[in-house]
Amino acid sequence: MNGMLSPSLMCADMLNLQSEITALDNLGVEYIHLDFMDGKFVPNITLDATLIKSVKSVLKNMKRDIHIMAYEPEKYFDRMDIGDGDIVSVHYESSDNIHDVLKLIKQRGASPFLAISPDTDADVLNDFRDEIDGVLVMTVYPGFAGQPIVEGSFDKISKVRNIIDSFDRNILLEVDGHVSWDLCRKMRSCGADIFVAGSSSVYSKGIDLDQAVKKMKELIK
Ligand code: DX5
Ligand code: ZN
Repeated sequence: MNGMLSPSLMCADMLNLQSEITALDNLGVEYIHLDFMDGKFVPNITLDATLIKSVKSVLKNMKRDIHIMAYEPEKYFDRMDIGDGDIVSVHYESSDNIHDVLKLIKQRGASPFLAISPDTDADVLNDFRDEIDGVLVMTVYPGFAGQPIVEGSFDKISKVRNIIDSFDRNILLEVDGHVSWDLCRKMRSCGADIFVAGSSSVYSKGIDLDQAVKKMKELIK
């Protein structure tokens, strides 16, 4: 299976979101990465829940890849109209009842992904064997675009890959943070399936969106 692209909308031109989304939709991109932040779990606010809901109405081909960086993430599911076809990543570090939150995502017909921040050991995944469809490996500290990759991220990706392969279920591995032109191939070789493309690739300066998407797709094959 080829690597799949999930461009990060928070890195796009905020004044032209609909045309940015449509352009991606027409380029055969599989997912659109929608970051939601509550300003408490991470010290930043980005796309709001209503916008994330309205994105659904303009998508023709892409699926929503929603990344919730918030405490009590389940509070936002209705507002985002979480449902069929969505990937929904919630942070292991964001809830005392993360198992129930993952169950809720599944009950709504969406794919539950467990997001783990750089300081969270991959071993925690062993408690989620039958509850997740994927893991979102944060290769930067969540909250901001444009950060450098965290030391040890490649070993982390490989370790997550080995753990989820041992579950003997087809669990996807998504990487998020500094997925750059020169690092994405190595991330792929460590076992990544879905690539969140932000300011260090698809939205980097000096390259047209269609060229950038084409280049990225080639690199993550
Ligand atoms: C950061 C977000 C990422 C970010 C990626 O918390 O989860 O989606 O936008 O952007 P870059 O590629 O610049 O790290
Ligand atoms: Zn993200």
